[in-house]
Amino acid sequence: MSQHLEVVRTVAELRDRVANARSSGLRIGLVPTMGALHHGHLSLVDAISDKADLIVVSIFVNPTQFGEGEDFEAYPRDENSDLAKLSATAASLVYAPSVEEMYPAGDSTTIRVSGISERFEGMHRPGHFDGVATVVSKLLLHSAPDVAVFGEKDYQQLAVIRQFVKDLAIPSSIIGAPIVREADGLAASSRNVYLSEPAREIAGNLNVILTALVQEAKSGMELRACEEQAVKALLAAGFDDVDYVSIVDAQSLDTLSSLDRPARVLAVARLEKVRLLDNMAIEAP
Ligand code: PAF
Repeated sequence: MSQHLEVVRTVAELRDRVANARSSGLRIGLVPTMGALHHGHLSLVDAISDKADLIVVSIFVNPTQFGEGEDFEAYPRDENSDLAKLSATAASLVYAPSVEEMYPAGDSTTIRVSGISERFEGMHRPGHFDGVATVVSKLLLHSAPDVAVFGEKDYQQLAVIRQFVKDLAIPSSIIGAPIVREADGLAASSRNVYLSEPAREIAGNLNVILTALVQEAKSGMELRACEEQAVKALLAAGFDDVDYVSIVDAQSLDTLSSLDRPARVLAVARLEKVRLLDNMAIEAP
């Protein structure tokens, strides 16, 4: 499926390509990314390929979702390598705008989703979800897709996006795609490249420990005890710190005290300077 991919960098060019496709009756799909593409991103293109005819992949490292002291400057960027990877997928068009195109001089609008974006990642990364909600709103308005896909690895991000898309009645369906994992279970992430070799060996334990937590929760162990045991196991496995391990309602992300509805465990453990995110569904026993 190797092909030459057109890259557009302005809202006007993107809207022109989308309008042409739409007038030919094509359905538009959007895969938002920050580049540094790995097989997790490519699986997002696959996940949308039977739902859209013109698949737009956006590549934009969004400054407003990085906090002070985070890795905005260091975030891996390699457009040529990203384009080579995408040219072997069903992607039809790449939207790679500049910061000035996304945030023109005088830009003064922020989308803030209260409640769901204030917990977990929202507490550890203040302002992060305002940046995500604002940039994803812009990407949806620029490309007006029928469908857009986001990875379940950033489970809270997906919940925040679903919330504002519903609240603002944005006419795009939002779909979540399953987490793609490395051979040892570590969730694929562009930031995994920051891990040293010894840290990379420890990192796979996050998946192992969450898998054990899911089994224990399903077998009736008290949910707070499951979380505490997982935190201890992570520290014993060599993680430097654990930001949270929480069993929550899969939709509202409210903390659960029993598995009486679809549940999810959300976790972030730190290794070196990397915050490793993971989550898993817990089906009712
Ligand atoms: O998940 C990401 O890569 C980013 O948060 C997103 C959705 C592309 C917004 O910048």
